[in-house]
Amino acid sequence: AGAPDLAGRRVVISAGGTREPLDPVRYLGNHSSGKQGYALARTAQARGAEVTLVAANTALPEPAGVRVERVGSAGELRAAMRREAAEADVLVMAAAVADFRPARTVEQKIKKRDGVEPDPIALVRNPDILAELSAERRPGQVVVGFAAETENVLAGGRAKLARKGCDLLVVNEVGGGLAFGTDENEAVILDADGGETPVPLGPKEALADLLWDAVLRRLATR
Ligand code: C5P
Repeated sequence: AGAPDLAGRRVVISAGGTREPLDPVRYLGNHSSGKQGYALARTAQARGAEVTLVAANTALPEPAGVRVERVGSAGELRAAMRREAAEADVLVMAAAVADFRPARTVEQKIKKRDGVEPDPIALVRNPDILAELSAERRPGQVVVGFAAETENVLAGGRAKLARKGCDLLVVNEVGGGLAFGTDENEAVILDADGGETPVPLGPKEALADLLWDAVLRRLATR
């Protein structure tokens, strides 16, 4: 392990993927494994940070020395992040958050009935947690987002960083088997000050360590 350069810093990281309930047994979900968020938690802990991991539906071993808070839906993840934000120096949104949730969650299991077509599932928008955390951040707090793009990675990433208002955005090119569920990642870290750090294809820990370097530069300018 290197220097404990994150000592005394409170870091909160969301990981995994949200599940938006339809009824007591069904949900709308996504394929996020949580591996990148867990790699961020392990590396931050190794560098001396006090780490809270807000884990949405992950099945990974809990990192030693990290406080893990479990959530299910985007609403629960939002509540946890906003509560933790009050005490955090750094907030990282590495979770795959559902953009939409079912307009209604029913209390009984939806039944199939002979000769009756199912009702369509009406959706409503979920709040953008990253944009909210950015808009509400305290002076000196650093907010980080992730974005998976399939094309125009840099231009799209820049526009998204501006739209969300975060300090740093990690942009992944997805497709072709990269990112989801794998142990490796290739990305670019965009800084709101215009900086750009390419991350070569490699373990998610390597990306995590480059991201903590960028976070430390950002913290130093506050
Ligand atoms: O807009 P897009 O989903 O591409 O942005 C991805 C980033 O925004 C991730 O950091 C993700 O955690 C965050 N996000 C969020 N709330 C949402 C959707 C995405 O915080 N409702």
